[in-house]
Amino acid sequence: MTETIKADDERAAPCAGLRIGDVAPDFSARSTTGDVRLSDYRGRWLILFSHPADFTPVCTTEFIALAEAAGEFEERDCALMALSVDSLFSHFAWLRLIRDRYEIEVRFPILEDPTLVIGRAYGMVAPNDSDSAAVRTTFFIDPSGVIRAMTCYPANVGRSTPEMLRTLDALQAVDDGPVLAPANWAPGEALLAQPDASLDTVFSAQGQTDWFMKETRRGASK
Ligand code: BEZ
Repeated sequence: MTETIKADDERAAPCAGLRIGDVAPDFSARSTTGDVRLSDYRGRWLILFSHPADFTPVCTTEFIALAEAAGEFEERDCALMALSVDSLFSHFAWLRLIRDRYEIEVRFPILEDPTLVIGRAYGMVAPNDSDSAAVRTTFFIDPSGVIRAMTCYPANVGRSTPEMLRTLDALQAVDDGPVLAPANWAPGEALLAQPDASLDTVFSAQGQTDWFMKETRRGASK
């Protein structure tokens, strides 16, 4: 069993170089909704994402957009969990301002990671950076705790909530059978069949591309 990382741990964890297919390292930390432990989310999807700093313009737009879409993630049985180096009381003050100014309550947990121990373990910050204002990293973690997709955006470009939902829809659709989600796939559109890697299939296929490019069932509409 791997050791649970604690957000107040003074030891600097090395940048883990996590990859798709790795089990997401467990951790516990204080958050705006109380103490959280990553492994408590087993059994449902989880999007864990870092943001450079509270009280910054792009981050504020991301949190408003995600809070507005919270019900859509919930419909997909997916929890949201944010993380930054800022203190819990900074998070509280920022969420209060967002509520008062933009009339939206951010109810998903925002973790404090004062020593960057979680951020470094997840490769959200460069190992030797003294602050976390580098990247917006997003991890899509499946119900068994496995990292299924990752994205990394710079501090000056905000993430797309529709693309986060689409990625989640695609990951859930391909889990329903041996199918593939093509470029720009959206729920309700055709998925592709896994190619059958045999020479007999190649030579007996009717069309030129049928042996590797074949539409199959549609993903459920949302
Ligand atoms: C922003 O969220 O606007 C931001 C955060 C860190 C650096 C630059 C911009």
